[in-house]
Amino acid sequence: MYRSFGAPTERLRLETLALPPVNPLQIRVAMTVAPVNPSDLIPITGAYSHRIQLPAVAGYEGMGRVIHAPQTQAQLIGRRVLPLRGTGTWQSYVDCDPDLVVLVPDTISDLVAARAYINPLAALTMLDAFPVAGKQVLLSGAGSACAELLGRWALEQGAAKVQGIYRSESRVKRLVACGIEPISIDDLQTARAAARESDLAFDALGGPVGSSVIDAMRDGTVFVGYGLLSGQSIRPSRTPRAGYRRFHLRDTLATMTPGTWQRQFLRLWQALLHTELPPVQLFAIDDWQSAVEQALRPGTAKPMLRFDRAES
Ligand SMILES: NC(=O)c1ccc[n+]([C@@H]2O[C@H](COP(=O)([O-])OP(=O)(O)OC[C@H]3O[C@@H](n4cnc5c(N)ncnc54)[C@H](OP(=O)(O)O)[C@@H]3O)[C@@H](O)[C@H]2O)c1
Repeated sequence: MYRSFGAPTERLRLETLALPPVNPLQIRVAMTVAPVNPSDLIPITGAYSHRIQLPAVAGYEGMGRVIHAPQTQAQLIGRRVLPLRGTGTWQSYVDCDPDLVVLVPDTISDLVAARAYINPLAALTMLDAFPVAGKQVLLSGAGSACAELLGRWALEQGAAKVQGIYRSESRVKRLVACGIEPISIDDLQTARAAARESDLAFDALGGPVGSSVIDAMRDGTVFVGYGLLSGQSIRPSRTPRAGYRRFHLRDTLATMTPGTWQRQFLRLWQALLHTELPPVQLFAIDDWQSAVEQALRPGTAKPMLRFDRAES
């Protein structure tokens, strides 16, 4: 939980609160696992302070088991679900809206289900909005889970070539195995040459890298900014020839009906069945600080919080 904005390691606290009485119209989920994503940490810094009410429980995704459901959905008790778009997921119990709770198929493991939302849905939605067939695609922040999915699925959808600008050498082997041509962030000359050839760029960094990519792109191309991992905005040196588009999943969710939401997950489960996600490292919730520190360290596996504390 965080009660003020700032560095996640300083502002987050593990707190023990009384469990509120069950709301008979909601589903209560005992959490199993939840990842630590940049999408969870950035809001704690105050980047979106205008729309976050404090105190807040951190975490936007994760998986657990239903321990209470309204009478009409009693069959859900004991089932694995994603309790999304309600209160923060980094807590032992999450109450959520029955229309938005997502049932996890038996074919999907806990560790895949727990990260089936933020990055996979963002990648799927971006590829729907910006078709890649026959195009040359450039990714920045290519060592990230989201960029990897964009790259893999772009190739499946017929992209002519996918190149990825990465920071840590430890990412190279995986990028190559995914069919993504790696370009070091320290080799800006090659990155600029790739940008000049690309039809479409998906940028997770902003800052100097994102700016030099958009600067180098040709007329009629598209640059999609979906993250600011550098902490700095895009500052092109002149009016960009590429069209700039900003993508934020929450804009799509604002108008998405519960029916479409559920249908998108049916697509995601299909896609995730044949997509091997990057490795994770598990941390007990009591050790949340190590998990957050790991998320901030370059070249490491994505941390995943385990919530078996309450049951042990
Ligand atoms: N707009 C949306 O709706 C939306 C939705 C989902 C995700 N996102 C964004 O997608 C991005 C990736 O998220 P994720 O969960 O996929 O990340 P992730 O798997 O946790 O990986 C983070 C990646 O970012 C790299 N990185 C972090 N800071 C960096 C910096 N200053 N310069 C260069 N590289 C840096 C890391 O480099 P190393 O390889 O060196 O560790 C790592 O490869 C985030 O910006 C997130 O906010 C946006």
